Amino acid sequence: MKREDFVPDVIWVRRADGWMVPLSRAENPEEWLRIVNDGDAVVTQADDGTNEYDGRGIIPTSSSSAPSVMAEMLELLDVTVGTDVLEIGTGTGYNAALLAERAAPGHVTTMEIDPTIAAHARQALERTGYPVTVITGDGTRGYLERAPYDRVMATASALWVPYAWVEQTRPGGRIVLPLVGGFGRGAFLRLTVDRNGSAQGRFHGGASFMRLRNQRDDEALWEISDTADAEATTTGLFPREPFTDFEAAFALGARLPGWVTGERNDSDGRTILLMSHFDSGSWATVTSGTDGHKVYHYGPRRLWEELEAAYEWWTGTGRPDHSRFGLTITPEAQTFWLDTPEQLVSSQ
Ligand SMILES: C[S@@+](CC[C@H](N)C(=O)[O-])C[C@H]1O[C@@H](n2cnc3c(N)ncnc32)[C@H](O)[C@@H]1O
Repeated sequence: MKREDFVPDVIWVRRADGWMVPLSRAENPEEWLRIVNDGDAVVTQADDGTNEYDGRGIIPTSSSSAPSVMAEMLELLDVTVGTDVLEIGTGTGYNAALLAERAAPGHVTTMEIDPTIAAHARQALERTGYPVTVITGDGTRGYLERAPYDRVMATASALWVPYAWVEQTRPGGRIVLPLVGGFGRGAFLRLTVDRNGSAQGRFHGGASFMRLRNQRDDEALWEISDTADAEATTTGLFPREPFTDFEAAFALGARLPGWVTGERNDSDGRTILLMSHFDSGSWATVTSGTDGHKVYHYGPRRLWEELEAAYEWWTGTGRPDHSRFGLTITPEAQTFWLDTPEQLVSSQ
């Protein structure tokens, strides 16, 4: 089985000016094949296929993941002959074919939210002879009709784990997914489901994946546009680490669930840090300056102060890295912990 049998004839490549543009196999077969065999992720859809920017694209919304990353996930998942698997995020269908090779015919179900992408994958799987059930639909609901599963795997990243995946997995079964917090950094989470309807597990290697369509949260930052109603203060502390350092950003994502953060430049070219807590409608911005850093707060929660406290917690606990964190899912809550489930980091 070859990756090129699954990647569509038109892929997207990033130009030096930042735009993505399509590259067609028919027009440039050597370059198409070079990219597909290069070992990196290959972008197969931009901007949800909307063609909003007249033939150019900004945001990758489907891809064939890098083969080394797929191998890492498959190892965490551990599929053997006869294992019933549900994959969320069919994409090209290549990973579903790899699952089918391990699980044996008839044991793999894969779900894709985008009908055009699902149709392409279905055809590619049929053409290459892999008997996989491709369902067009929202994978965060799981697929009850073929449950229970021994393994559930998501190849799009989640902010929180949909409880349906736990409910539809047999006791002792595993769930593997990239979990990416509100500070934009994430890692592979491997959960084991128990007999009481809970799942628990730890984080493994760092993971950067496009977000599940229905868990995108960046709109919360677009609302941060007008500082007129916001309260202005200054701060002496300016921890940039949560925005630049992988481990800090991962830990703060765990400590501050329900946040979304980002950056933009002001008219003088200075970087403004943005943070929003969507449930409470609170946000804050911070701009670095020579005579103190300017903070604007809006809404019931004082997010910058919460971020400073979370940062102090992280440095005060010895800057733990992502592999020391774990997560427990119950029907009621998603709880992060440090080292052991008793050491609570946050619950949501
Ligand atoms: C990184 S790609 C998957 C790569 C794929 N496994 C492969 O081997 O090519 C992520 C895919 O998840 C899909 N997706 C996003 N949100 C989804 C959802 N809620 N349910 C099902 N699929 C979803 C996207 O449309 C995209 O095709």
